[in-house]
Amino acid sequence: MIRQKIMVINGPNLNLLGAREPEVYGSETLDMIENKLSSKASDLGLDIDFRQSNFEGDIITWAAEANLNMAAIIINAAALTHTSIAIFDALSAVNIPVVEVHLSNVFKREKFRHHSYISPASMGVICGFGGQGYIMALEALSEILKKNKK
Ligand code: DQA
Repeated sequence: MIRQKIMVINGPNLNLLGAREPEVYGSETLDMIENKLSSKASDLGLDIDFRQSNFEGDIITWAAEANLNMAAIIINAAALTHTSIAIFDALSAVNIPVVEVHLSNVFKREKFRHHSYISPASMGVICGFGGQGYIMALEALSEILKKNKK
């Protein structure tokens, strides 16, 4: 049986995790998050395609690619969450479930982080649980994908 694949999209500056404001984002690197998520995915019988870019256009192109080849999207668009109508449009155009993730609790932070262009195009939002949020998103999607198969 071919395993279902989930694209995990990470936006600007998330390549710096571990070194970047650890008091806000924790000490885990993006590689550590990817490794944990990958092992969770194999427990759930899923595959992940984990990516990071500092460029808005990559994220838009990847969303369209995921729509053609993958079962779902997990996205942490980082600062582009709060600015990008283009990513909102790209996610609105897909026919697969999207889950928005943030490491930090954006609602405890500056006001400009309280608005997300991604949320209205997402099935749900997980924020404030650090790297564990990606695992929670994968678990939620695993259940949703099982239900959708029936
Ligand atoms: C973030 C929150 C955003 O406001 C911020 O710009 C980021 C990371 C998070 O994961 O907590 O870069 O998406």
